[in-house]
Amino acid sequence: MVKVPENIKAAFTAQRVIPMATVNGEGVPNIIYVGIWWWEDEETLCVVNNYLNKTLANVKDNGRVCFVCYGKGGSYQIKCMAEDVTDGPLYVKAHKLATERERPFPGRSAVVCRVLEIYQGSGGDGAGDRLA
Ligand SMILES: Cc1cc2nc3c(=O)[nH]c(=O)nc-3n(C[C@H](O)[C@H](O)[C@H](O)COP(=O)(O)O)c2cc1C
Repeated sequence: MVKVPENIKAAFTAQRVIPMATVNGEGVPNIIYVGIWWWEDEETLCVVNNYLNKTLANVKDNGRVCFVCYGKGGSYQIKCMAEDVTDGPLYVKAHKLATERERPFPGRSAVVCRVLEIYQGSGGDGAGDRLA
């Protein structure tokens, strides 16, 4: 795992709704948007599973997840290994986030994504370079 620097965490947080890519066992990619998620710590991004379908199947199949963001703070890509968590503190946190709101969502589980690699997402010098 790698530690995600504050400025990169902030770049993701500022975008709020971020693309989440997964892949199935045959190599078929799948990408969705997620809007309910949080940084649990400097190595861990948690997504609230409300409606994940193919994404959840892919997480259970191989755990590989990739996110990307862009904004004033720059553009970054992170590659993670994820697991579906259906009990314990992270599940409770995800469920609360989903259900204790004006328009509640199901909050079925927490997809806990541990960051393994970070890349520069911006064009120009260093495009695609591995940062950590
Ligand atoms: C703006 C936006 C935000 C979304 N946020 C979430 C989310 O936080 N959690 C979730 O489970 N689904 C969320 N969805 C739904 C997923 O993007 C997607 O529809 C769902 O995972 C089913 O697709 P799949 O079969 O590829 O997994 C969101 C959709 C949109 C358009």
